Amino acid sequence: MKIINVVGARPNFMKIAPLMAAYAAWPQVTPMLVHTGQHYDQQMSQLFFRQLGIPEPDLNLGIGSGTAVAQTAEIMRAFEPVVRDQAPVAVLVVGDVNSTLACGLVAVKLGVPLVHVEAGLRSFDRTMPEEVNRVLTDAVSDLLFCTEQSGVDNLAHEGVSDQKVFLVGNVMVDTLLKNRQKAEASTILEDLSLCPQGYAVLTLHRPSNVDDPLVLGRLLDAIDVVQRDRPVVFPVHPRTRRQLSDSTMSRRIAAQTNLKLIDPAGYLDFLKLIAHASCVLTDSGGIQEETTILKVPCLTLRDNTERPVTVDIGSNRLVGTDPGRIVAAYRDVLAGSCEAGVPPLWDGHAAERIVGILRAQL
Ligand code: UD1
Repeated sequence: MKIINVVGARPNFMKIAPLMAAYAAWPQVTPMLVHTGQHYDQQMSQLFFRQLGIPEPDLNLGIGSGTAVAQTAEIMRAFEPVVRDQAPVAVLVVGDVNSTLACGLVAVKLGVPLVHVEAGLRSFDRTMPEEVNRVLTDAVSDLLFCTEQSGVDNLAHEGVSDQKVFLVGNVMVDTLLKNRQKAEASTILEDLSLCPQGYAVLTLHRPSNVDDPLVLGRLLDAIDVVQRDRPVVFPVHPRTRRQLSDSTMSRRIAAQTNLKLIDPAGYLDFLKLIAHASCVLTDSGGIQEETTILKVPCLTLRDNTERPVTVDIGSNRLVGTDPGRIVAAYRDVLAGSCEAGVPPLWDGHAAERIVGILRAQL
């Protein structure tokens, strides 16, 4: 019995790692790993395999960058013969990236059961590429594993049978808890001359935040105030790096002397960075969840979130892109303490639960 597991982009790697390990409890199954190649840089891909102990992919489709349409279409074309040749009992996809949707569509068109891990999350913002990927992937999935109750509720509203939906917790949290101690050995704080709790971390990569110079400029206005208060470490995603290379933007960045731009960090360095930050400012989805577990205040530079449990539980605040609002929230979180709890089932055992359910269902 083969199950094909798909990864493509950086946030997929921490989700697949605990699943690949959990299959060991199911000897009748041969888990195959297919990397679409959506992310291909050493810092965006290979480093994560090494640090998280993910087995080498059985196959890399080598798709690389392109428009969302070309990328999705190319992945579908390359993945179809793989599914035909391997005849798996299921295809498992994680998250909400273009690779998730592309491989999900191939599975359903070839009549192979589709499993979606991290199903049901909704920002209700269809201008967000990931939201379209989520809605469409869930619509064609046969087994849907949710990280939080909102996911279960959203799927029920969309008419998905509750027989197919399971609340299992969060595989990304499995990875975080497993690597928390190991990350402490990272020397990133010393390398960047940072004191624990004495700096903030910034990440930005959403097209809606970085592709429009006006929006990016407003965010930099807010960061300017923060970096006058304490150092801000900014691991820069390749998409954002391109936008910042514009001459006006680079001048503004150079003037912010306490803003430290670094290359995209590996998993362990990044975990150490956020674990000891006084505050994290981000437009990422996954980082909202990681800061929840680490009990580090998170300011989400968006107007919505598909992970509302992080807001309900108190570690995350939606602050949008207005500089005044961001700075006010920053001052507010630094003045208080982060007393947030932990969402149900975010306990490090989600992958085991998923494999147990797959074993019973397939
Ligand atoms: C993708 C995901 C997003 C996820 C993000 C994490 C989709 C729709 N989006 O966005 O959900 O949060 O990954 O990083 O799938 N590039 C490189 N090297 C790489 C990969 C990309 O230089 O290894 C550059 C390319 O110029 C590329 C650009 O980054 O055009 C964007 O990459 P892409 O995979 O299209 O989307 P992301 O913005 O990374």
